[in-house]
Amino acid sequence: MNKPLDGVQLEEIRDDFPILAQHLHGNKHLVYFDNAATSQKPRQVIDAMNDYYRRYNANVHRGIHALAERATREYELARQRIAKFINAPTPETVIFTRGTTEAINLVAYSWARTNLKPGDEILITWMEHHSNIVPWYQVAAATGAVIKRIDLNADGTLAVPEMNPRTKLVAVTQCSNVLGTINPIRQLADAAHKVGALILVDGAQGIPHLAVDVQALDVDFYAFSGHKMLGPTGSGALYGRRQLLEAMPPFMGGGEMIREVTADGFTCNDLPYKFEAGTPNIAESIGLGAAVDYLQNIGLEKIRQHEKQITGYALDRLQEFVEIKIYGPLDVEKRGGLVSFTFSDIHPHDLATFFDQEGIAVRAGHHCAMPLHKKLNIGATTRASFYLYNTRDEVDVFIAALHNAKKFFGACPTGRALGF
Ligand code: ALA
Repeated sequence: MNKPLDGVQLEEIRDDFPILAQHLHGNKHLVYFDNAATSQKPRQVIDAMNDYYRRYNANVHRGIHALAERATREYELARQRIAKFINAPTPETVIFTRGTTEAINLVAYSWARTNLKPGDEILITWMEHHSNIVPWYQVAAATGAVIKRIDLNADGTLAVPEMNPRTKLVAVTQCSNVLGTINPIRQLADAAHKVGALILVDGAQGIPHLAVDVQALDVDFYAFSGHKMLGPTGSGALYGRRQLLEAMPPFMGGGEMIREVTADGFTCNDLPYKFEAGTPNIAESIGLGAAVDYLQNIGLEKIRQHEKQITGYALDRLQEFVEIKIYGPLDVEKRGGLVSFTFSDIHPHDLATFFDQEGIAVRAGHHCAMPLHKKLNIGATTRASFYLYNTRDEVDVFIAALHNAKKFFGACPTGRALGF
């Protein structure tokens, strides 16, 4: 169960992803190391969406005809699969959204704006994505709440603090999209609950790679996207504790979220529909259900073991270069499947362009985490991020390309400096 994927399984998995078989720029085999931005999709997900559009395209919860009934059934089945995947107590506590950003904004608008008052504290970290920063800045401006940050240890892990009674919400990523750090969510949840605060987890980089149990983690809200976990773009969900969701006002008004509309008012529908105004992303949610099935068939433990091997190998090989500075913990137990680095004074955008010419897709820039880059005193990093279909051979291709880049750019050593 906890063994990594073997060669045969890996080949079978790669065969499920048609996109991986292609060559770029003439004869360069695609090496896709930009999984933290978005993952590739297996044919099972593509087929599930195709099937919806070809065979039972209809709106959900509205029609009394065969296609509408099938669409509703598949859409709700996807919700049930997702609820089971994260061990949510009931499917109604899983609200479909367009992704993590919308899920976090739902909580910011619906819970935070109605519950926070001047002087209340929202505790975030230095490693948050803008999606888990900007909504809280907006809440702070609207309510008078104050933003505080949990500090970082020297290796890029979090220093879990004692919280105080002014803390009302802890909003934290499960896994940093830059440092790779996996945060101690249960410890943070316990610390938050001890002072009566809630905890919201940005699971965008967590759920694709780690087995998630929202009850064991004891989180109040868990937000995630489908497109980083083999599902389509425009899919995602918010898990919320039932009594919180029930007390929260709707995020958006429109069809489906109402029970009754009169000449001068409305009453809300039950969960989860209260938060799903308008025609939802039906094909995308069904596609996300298929992605969950795919991940479950392989097993998250197995995927994690595989990623630890690939990441560990990449970290070892990257340390062949004295010019490279790696950000975040070097221990694969503390980090997810991504590595961000700088390479001497080569601009990450130039390096990413060089990689692209070799058929290798990486991301370069601030990765929507500008405050973190500012704190680290760097403008940008190059990031290689891995997933279940990546191989050691691809890491070798990536390292060979780095050797070529070193020759091409004439990089000069600036001294080995790991972490920060
Ligand atoms: N949030 C995504 C990333 O880190 C887009 O690349």
